[in-house]
Amino acid sequence: MERTNEPSPAPAVGTRQTSSATADGLLGGRTAMVTGAASGIGRACAVALAAEGAHVQVVDVDAEGAEKVASEVGGTAYPADLSDPAAVDGLPADADIVVNNAGLQRVAPVHELDPDTFATMQRIMVEAPFRILHRTLPGMYERGWGRVVNISSVHGLRASPYKSAYVAAKHALEGLSKVVALEGAPHGVTSNCVNPAYVRTPLVERQIARQAEVHGIPESEVVSTVLLERPAIKRLIEPEEVARTVVWLCGPGTAYVTGADLVLDGGWTAH
Ligand SMILES: NC(=O)c1ccc[n+]([C@@H]2O[C@H](COP(=O)([O-])OP(=O)(O)OC[C@H]3O[C@@H](n4cnc5c(N)ncnc54)[C@H](O)[C@@H]3O)[C@@H](O)[C@H]2O)c1
Repeated sequence: MERTNEPSPAPAVGTRQTSSATADGLLGGRTAMVTGAASGIGRACAVALAAEGAHVQVVDVDAEGAEKVASEVGGTAYPADLSDPAAVDGLPADADIVVNNAGLQRVAPVHELDPDTFATMQRIMVEAPFRILHRTLPGMYERGWGRVVNISSVHGLRASPYKSAYVAAKHALEGLSKVVALEGAPHGVTSNCVNPAYVRTPLVERQIARQAEVHGIPESEVVSTVLLERPAIKRLIEPEEVARTVVWLCGPGTAYVTGADLVLDGGWTAH
């Protein structure tokens, strides 16, 4: 008999803790781990997943920020530095949904980028997602349902100068996502990337000053001439718009969407 991975209605997952205020949403009874959830896109994902009833494991190196978001969404904070493999392996392994979101940017030409910075970024943005999935996929396979959402970037599909560590990490995450899609398919587990262009978050706000320096232009020109040069839609995307796509991937009707890139780039890659 053909096996499908359509989500079962409100799952019986026994002792899972859920927020009673939101337990009736699309994701009631599900547990969702979101990394980098203290800020920006991760925070928006935590809020949106919790609004649909998921219990959110809020993972972030910023312990105070993680506690704040966890208390806002009725979830649990897990302060952890994802550049430390032991800390990653100490995270819970019972999530039904994993949103690999934590990331950072460094802007410098290859010959000026510190190799240790390159290595740390690969640990946070590639090795940590692998380690988290290495430990959470067996539970998803056992329960016959799981959703992996990797927050990649338009830089998982295209390169830009001065972003070697970031572009390399996002391209690697794309590969990991596709392998998990192939391995997870018989077990009801989908794996996809979400690929935004520039999102209005602290990560981008921090980049503007550095981009101004590297390109030798005033900060006021960075948004219009650097950040919005390639998207056809001339505005930044909001974190909540990215989170909506993440929730869509975790909700009903998307069980056949796997190994895909959900490109939210305002037309950047249409060029
Ligand atoms: N902002 C954008 O324009 C944009 C575009 C495409 C993709 N993305 C991706 O979205 C993700 C989130 O970015 P954002 O813009 O919301 O950034 P952000 O800086 O607002 O948030 C990133 C979060 O990750 C956490 N983090 C960083 N290093 C960590 C570590 N070692 N261990 C644990 N947590 C750590 C930070 O503390 C922070 O809370 C990143 O993977 C980024 O590459 C962002």
